[in-house]
Amino acid sequence: MIPGKPSRTAWSAAMHRAAHQIVDRASVFDDPMAVPMTGWSRRRIEQDVARHPERRGMRFFIASRHQFARDVVRRAAERAGDPVQVVVLGAGLDTTAYRGGPESDDVVRVFEVDHPATGAWKREHLTREGIFPTLPVAYVGVDFETQSVHAALQSAGLDPARPVVVVWLGVLVYLTRPAIEATVSELSGLATAPVDLVFDYPEPTEDLSGRVAQVRAARASRVAALGEPWLSSYTPEEMRCLLADRGFAAVEDLATADWIERYFGVRRPAAGAGAHLLHAVTGAARRSGSGPGRRTRAGSN
Ligand SMILES: C[S@@+](CC[C@H](N)C(=O)[O-])C[C@H]1O[C@@H](n2cnc3c(N)ncnc32)[C@H](O)[C@@H]1O
Repeated sequence: MIPGKPSRTAWSAAMHRAAHQIVDRASVFDDPMAVPMTGWSRRRIEQDVARHPERRGMRFFIASRHQFARDVVRRAAERAGDPVQVVVLGAGLDTTAYRGGPESDDVVRVFEVDHPATGAWKREHLTREGIFPTLPVAYVGVDFETQSVHAALQSAGLDPARPVVVVWLGVLVYLTRPAIEATVSELSGLATAPVDLVFDYPEPTEDLSGRVAQVRAARASRVAALGEPWLSSYTPEEMRCLLADRGFAAVEDLATADWIERYFGVRRPAAGAGAHLLHAVTGAARRSGSGPGRRTRAGSN
């Protein structure tokens, strides 16, 4: 990220969700606030999509990863028999706290955690567009590279006795490995109740080939030009070990083509260009090992 500036990729992700409502008729991820959140008219979004037909795969990728997260929240609330706390890490223009509708019954409170510059920009944007939360929401400014998510969420009032779902979409790739690993360590100890974690992560480029590798390289240079270079990648085995060492067990780790097929019923191998979508949960693994708050990170107090 460019120091002091809000994320530009947060805007792109929101535009893909808005376009999905219009062009795909919200076939997978129905979000009544996706278009209003952009501040753009439906007509303007349609025109933008018409100018960029190449963005279809990315739109599928983003719409389906959000529906995946919504499904995890619903299942976590069903399992708990009670609404859960939802922590959206690197929230960008995420609409969980503003959508209303029956899914609100699954959520007791939303914690929007983001880089302070992006969080401030979003709050100004919400005021400008006249968008109000439909759920209790706490805005938490954290730089994952230097600050402790655990300490910040504790200060913001996260209840450690109530289940938590952490949604961390489109963010890992922009962080360094030490920041990712420290944050995952902290997340497993956010609550004594189960912590479900949903995130996407990219595979190393050298493990990719053909069209997927080309699409990935083009996308990497586009976001680097926006000041948000991709910094990290993991093989599925590395990720499995990282999670296990920090108290999480993977429930599902899906390659992009598999999750797009699950939701859209079509196979688009190049759409997420080597990304994985993962759902993990704390459980037995945590009892034997590393927990939260064992590390002191700059800015954590
Ligand atoms: C591609 S956007 C994704 C936004 C949102 N999760 C979504 O899917 O629409 C990346 C997000 O990560 C956040 N981010 C990037 N680096 C960060 C850091 N070091 N600390 C906190 N947030 C960061 C940005 O502010 C931005 O909101």
